[in-house]
Amino acid sequence: MLERCREMLSGRDLLTTHDWTREELTAVLELAEDMQKERWSGKYFDVLKNRTFFMFFYNPSVRTRQSFECAATELGGHAQFLEPKSMRLKTAKTAGETIEDAARVMSRYAAGLGIRMLEDKVAAYGEGYKMIKEYADWADIPVSSMADDRFHPFQGLADTMGMRKHIGKDLKGKKATLVWGHGALARSWCSVQEYILMSSLYGMDVTIANPEGYDLDPEVIGWAKANCAANGQEFKVTHDQKEAYEGSNIVYSRNWMSPNAYTPDGEFLKAQEVEKALAYPQWICDEEKMKLTDNGLYIHPMPIDRGHEVTDEVASGPRSICVDVAENRLHVQKAVMAATMK
Ligand code: CP
Repeated sequence: MLERCREMLSGRDLLTTHDWTREELTAVLELAEDMQKERWSGKYFDVLKNRTFFMFFYNPSVRTRQSFECAATELGGHAQFLEPKSMRLKTAKTAGETIEDAARVMSRYAAGLGIRMLEDKVAAYGEGYKMIKEYADWADIPVSSMADDRFHPFQGLADTMGMRKHIGKDLKGKKATLVWGHGALARSWCSVQEYILMSSLYGMDVTIANPEGYDLDPEVIGWAKANCAANGQEFKVTHDQKEAYEGSNIVYSRNWMSPNAYTPDGEFLKAQEVEKALAYPQWICDEEKMKLTDNGLYIHPMPIDRGHEVTDEVASGPRSICVDVAENRLHVQKAVMAATMK
């Protein structure tokens, strides 16, 4: 299984799941499932022996940092946490060492590089992704997004691993609902966009519900729509929550920022975004709405903004798979590291 993944994926970057084929993603998911089963058997203990994975975090993290560090340890290697502010690196907002120089030098040390840069560290939507892509273009080692302002590929893989376990390996025809939630965090689009890309690729009907003025990236919507069309499934965007919940097999509720979150001179308007979002208290996932589903599961990438995006009753209820999905981050990251890093 690992050899097949390596034949397909050795040396490859992972900036979004949209860059990989369904066959490649499925191979990695199957490897992750085996790695979960064989976690302590020793089967994968030496896969990255003596190898280092560099991690730059421009934003905070619980799951991503901890699961990557555990992943490297469990494969026999090491994940090194690097604070960009201590490295004098150039970013969209700061001068410093060029990406070309940094990426080429780091390629001489490490076997892989992951970067996180979210919405509040850039001057316009898409710049975090663009910066990581520039690292990938210069580096000789695989580069992955550990969440940027557009994509969160490891989250998309972990979500799908969770759906395969709790709904079944054949997801075709199941209804995936993504609903906007009001909240105090002005969250980026990365996790929800990966979710619609993966659920549409795997043959699910996809329904997105959000208030007017909260449309996602039209390019990503176009890709998800094309996936649904290729699979003969439905893709819908609505402002009607009832329509979105009805008959759903899985509900993902999360806050996301509006497309007007940046000023033309590059300021991220967090306070205004939060104030605007808090004016929609009816946009919360609760038991009453979940009763409209087909005994639907509840999924969220965490951290959850409880009381805004979802009630405690649903988030901690028997149909919530959030903690399983958080665990899956470890397994999918081990699988991708093992497959791509030489
Ligand atoms: N889901 C996720 O990426 O969590 P962290 O922000 O805690 O890493």
